[in-house]
Amino acid sequence: MDIVLYPDPRLRAKNKAVDSFDESLAKTVRDMFDLMYSQQGVGLAAPQVGLNIKLLVFNATGNADDNESEIVLCNPVIKSKSKDKELAEEGCLSFPEILGNVMRHQSIVIEAQNLQGKTFELELEEWQARIFQHENDHIDGMLFIDRMTPASKALIKNDLLLMREEYGADANS
Ligand code: CO
Repeated sequence: MDIVLYPDPRLRAKNKAVDSFDESLAKTVRDMFDLMYSQQGVGLAAPQVGLNIKLLVFNATGNADDNESEIVLCNPVIKSKSKDKELAEEGCLSFPEILGNVMRHQSIVIEAQNLQGKTFELELEEWQARIFQHENDHIDGMLFIDRMTPASKALIKNDLLLMREEYGADANS
């Protein structure tokens, strides 16, 4: 399993609902967490590992030993979001070394299914809410560069251009 980098089309593709809650899904989730920790990430969505399904994982602590903080969401749906928003800096494993400011809802209520397919509701706040919104965007084929402030976007314009050139060079080699 490897991280898919921008501008790979799999990051923009449509994602299918998770419909089999089996051993293979559990294995995929474990591999995603391991890859996420190895890259010092706090969240990872399935399209970022080339799987176009509605699955995301995160651990706001980023600590591989803190399994209690691991959250797995299959087929997440946003039920409500706070009116309050906050601006903060984000990164993304599909955009190594690129950072930018993104506005996110301060808190959010979601419904999702766990690894066994059981539906549950969850309220997330602050940092956890931010990570969720970033990863959930991936599920919708949306990327943090689409939501960055114009000032941040201007600062990373060249980095994005380089990534597109590198991707094109790899594709043609
Ligand atoms: Co991301």
